[in-house]
Amino acid sequence: MARHAIVTGASRGIGRAIATGLARRGYDLALTDIAAQEKVLLETVAEVGKLGGRCIPVLGDVSDIGDCRRAVAEAVQGLGHVDVLVNNAGILRLATIDELTTDTWDQTFAVNTRGVFQMTQAVVPHMKERKYGRIVNIASLAARTGGPGQSHYAASKSAVVGFTRVSSMEFGGYGITVNAVCPGIIVTEMGMNNLRDPERVAYFEKVTDLHRLGQPEDVVGPVAFFASDDSAFVTGQALNVDGGIFYS
Ligand SMILES: NC(=O)c1ccc[n+]([C@@H]2O[C@H](COP(=O)([O-])OP(=O)(O)OC[C@H]3O[C@@H](n4cnc5c(N)ncnc54)[C@H](O)[C@@H]3O)[C@@H](O)[C@H]2O)c1
Repeated sequence: MARHAIVTGASRGIGRAIATGLARRGYDLALTDIAAQEKVLLETVAEVGKLGGRCIPVLGDVSDIGDCRRAVAEAVQGLGHVDVLVNNAGILRLATIDELTTDTWDQTFAVNTRGVFQMTQAVVPHMKERKYGRIVNIASLAARTGGPGQSHYAASKSAVVGFTRVSSMEFGGYGITVNAVCPGIIVTEMGMNNLRDPERVAYFEKVTDLHRLGQPEDVVGPVAFFASDDSAFVTGQALNVDGGIFYS
């Protein structure tokens, strides 16, 4: 039976790379993104669909519980069943603590943290019924360290790692594993927040063991591992995928 996955925030960047990588591994996919990204999402769905498997678009905002429930229902209806949820959608709005507004704090948590909870809660009844599931949460190197201007982002991603651990405890008995991936500095639109200054780029290249920045494709293998049965006895973990920039 073909494996089926939902990838949130999949129209571009790391989500798009994960979708492409899973399609190449034979998955059928439901790709989600917000309404503002509809055109790009449809282009991505068309491109990924050329790789062979089914690929359906699902519009929805992960910070909206109704959207999450509808997205999962559309994915289950469109694909037949869902084996894997990749919680990839995320935002980064830089602001130092001095200038950070309550709105920015709340929006960051609404998408990065509450979105992971809401998509998980929406998909788990289906996975429990099937006694099988793989949930992969895209956290961040910021959950381990973070940088100036990212306090809210780092806090939201640290929360994802904590949520991953307890999800693993609560769902393990149903054959559902839950793991997190913590990407380092990855060249995407979001990653550009860290990369506008050439001196910062040179610094990151110097302090990374592999002496290069990450590409979205660098995140795919670890996600595919956690999504697969090769990781059947691995759960509650958070894996750094950062070229060797931080150790924990
Ligand atoms: N790029 C990096 O350096 C880096 C490092 C560590 C972790 N991450 C994480 O990886 C994930 C992907 O990041 P990226 O670099 O590809 O960023 P990106 O900004 O290129 O892509 C993020 C995607 O999420 C979507 N999205 C945003 N808000 C959403 C919402 N409310 N509902 C549904 N979709 C929404 C966006 O429209 C976009 O398509 C994020 O969770 C991010 O925090 C990125």
